[in-house]
Amino acid sequence: MLMMQLNDGTHIPAVGFGVFLIPNDGETYEAVLNALKAGYRHIDTAAAYMNESDVGKAVRDSGIPREEIFITSKLWIQDYGYEAATKAIQTSLHNLNMDYIDLYLLHQPYSDVLGAWKALEEAKADGFIKSIGISNMTPKFYNEFVPQFATKPSVNQVEFNPYFQQQALRETMKADGVKIAAWAPLGQGNEALFKEEVLVQLAEKYHKNVGQVILRFEIQEGIIPLPKSVTPSRIEGNIDIFDFELSEAEMDAIRTLDKGKGNHDPEAPGVGDYLLENYKIHE
Ligand SMILES: NC(=O)c1ccc[n+]([C@@H]2O[C@H](COP(=O)([O-])OP(=O)(O)OC[C@H]3O[C@@H](n4cnc5c(N)ncnc54)[C@H](OP(=O)(O)O)[C@@H]3O)[C@@H](O)[C@H]2O)c1
Repeated sequence: MLMMQLNDGTHIPAVGFGVFLIPNDGETYEAVLNALKAGYRHIDTAAAYMNESDVGKAVRDSGIPREEIFITSKLWIQDYGYEAATKAIQTSLHNLNMDYIDLYLLHQPYSDVLGAWKALEEAKADGFIKSIGISNMTPKFYNEFVPQFATKPSVNQVEFNPYFQQQALRETMKADGVKIAAWAPLGQGNEALFKEEVLVQLAEKYHKNVGQVILRFEIQEGIIPLPKSVTPSRIEGNIDIFDFELSEAEMDAIRTLDKGKGNHDPEAPGVGDYLLENYKIHE
């Protein structure tokens, strides 16, 4: 598995397996076991996905040494603020049944971000977390919060796919060396994206499917895609992207698909309050 170096010196597998919306009733367990068998060594979960325990169980039952698997999880906004976050990090460790998490992110850029970040920094210093990062931070949120952080984030996990290539954010974060991890790397299965002529032609040329061309494009852009699937053939296919290379002209052709905006706007009025009120992960 190709690894990328983060700005704190740690290494992250260049592709991760996403488990958003997969139930914690054995389905996440099954999907993660399949993913590990297919060769993924990076699993992306979150406290808010309520499936950390299935992820942890699959990792243990896989027989693969813990240190060979990279686990990302995320702090939910209900637990922002220093004290709540400190406690919630321990809850994630408990649910995963692990003694450290490789990468822990602030899932959303709302509420007491600074207090929550301080808790992440401390947990990193105490060895409970190896790397810390953020998610859904647009250039505006990044410029508001990150200059106030004592530690630079290693990763910003944001919506990214050929329709939304995050040019402004990449420019904003360049100096800090923050890597982008892509959620919705396949556009959440967007049919129009899968029918784009340039992608269909490249898939034919390389004897790959369109999903593989998209994920290969992202890797070559230095982005860490986190494709989600519960379908075994897709789980396998989405990581079988290391035996071909897109030329610079082909990369340029895919770059022209950028529409400059995604489906989710973290800056839309009321998003933070809506999430806080509607997604409660505990009392
Ligand atoms: N930080 C955040 O706020 C945030 C937000 C959203 C997601 N995420 C993370 O990012 C991960 C990925 O994002 P996502 O799950 O929203 O979207 P995604 O990975 O772009 O798309 C997943 C969808 O595409 C389908 N799919 C998978 N592989 C395919 C292929 N090769 N061809 C066609 N369709 C395919 C899946 O169907 P099947 O499962 O039925 O195969 C599923 O419906 C999540 O699982 C989560 O870990 C983070």
